Amino acid sequence: MLAGRRILLIIGGGIAAYKALDLIRRLKEQGAAVTPVLTRAAQEFVTPLSASALAGEKVYTDLFDLTDEAEMGHIELSRAADLLVVAPATADLMAKMAGGHADDLASTLLMATDKRVLIAPAMNVRMWEHPATARNLATLLADGVLTVGPNEGDMACGEFGFGRMAEPAEIVAAAAAGLGEGPLKGRHLIVTSGPTHEPIDPVRFIANRSSGAQGAAIAEALANLGARVSFVTGPAEAAMPRGATVIRVETAQEMLDAVTAALPADAAVFAAAVADWRVDGAQAGKIKKTAKGGVPELRLVENPDILATVARMPTGRPALVVGFAAETDDVIANATAKRARKGCDWIVANDVSAGTGIMGGTENAVTLIHAEGSETWPRLSKAEVGRRLAARIAAHLTAGA
Ligand code: C5P
Repeated sequence: MLAGRRILLIIGGGIAAYKALDLIRRLKEQGAAVTPVLTRAAQEFVTPLSASALAGEKVYTDLFDLTDEAEMGHIELSRAADLLVVAPATADLMAKMAGGHADDLASTLLMATDKRVLIAPAMNVRMWEHPATARNLATLLADGVLTVGPNEGDMACGEFGFGRMAEPAEIVAAAAAGLGEGPLKGRHLIVTSGPTHEPIDPVRFIANRSSGAQGAAIAEALANLGARVSFVTGPAEAAMPRGATVIRVETAQEMLDAVTAALPADAAVFAAAVADWRVDGAQAGKIKKTAKGGVPELRLVENPDILATVARMPTGRPALVVGFAAETDDVIANATAKRARKGCDWIVANDVSAGTGIMGGTENAVTLIHAEGSETWPRLSKAEVGRRLAARIAAHLTAGA
């Protein structure tokens, strides 16, 4: 997957640095050449000798090691790579990158490069959630830096939450995607996500509780497999998926128009919680309370069904159309009927009854329904559901290719 590619791997100083050694091995297994760079703090966790033995290359630690080409050494080193990977990207390294510091070899290489940079953040959950880290991340994303993780889980510091570095296999996949590689290379996928807002008047609208988290996780996982992803989203709370092209819409009609404009696609995943109805003749001016009381009459009309429209396209239908079924009772029976009614290939069914914590939560329990029957997955994080579904889609699209 990475044959002939050179990766400059900057290892930051955190406990997750030990996983960077496994990462070197895995990158090499995929055919990449790896040049390791250790920050001063990283050398407290792993030794340059281990990194060098695994990479089979010279390891760099100090800006002033680069004596051979005098002042041009760091420029050469950062440009000879096809991709820079920072793993673990500590809070401090992220802050340096966001601030444009260049006071050691790692930060100088990151400033001098003309290549894409992928970071795998790893830190204590409080440090990850700190507003300063959130600001730095936003700056880095705006600068075009790619990210993978962090994941949720137990941490070396004894706490639980987001902050664990992505697993080496995930970082390899993200590196491949950053280089335009991966099983979905050359494929275009459309993902709809989030709620829609249907106006009543200029200030009021009908909405629903969808956070957009599941759709964003699917889109990000597909992008990490090398797909070009058009992410058509209503006004959602969840963070936008990294690596996808984001197309923002408000109403169901706008979502349909955006999906149609994004076609053709190899596959489309309809994770949006589209409003079934809109207000007939939304008012141009704000509806006023009248002195004599009374309530306005709202007449609802049906919205276009985006999933069914695409699934039943006579020409240009994506090879794989995936719908969602958020149900509160008889989940599998209702979702199986919905698959037939909408004409889609797969339905991802989930129980959104009050008490499951799924709508607006971080976990999901789904059953995948296809022509051959159904399979129920264990309750997983939405990120993991996204990764599994993306892997299934990749397997389906590349079968026999
Ligand atoms: O009919 P229901 O809303 O339960 O169907 C859910 C599935 O259909 C989801 O995949 C959703 O994204 C899609 N849908 C759509 N357009 C609509 C309504 C639902 O694409 N107007």
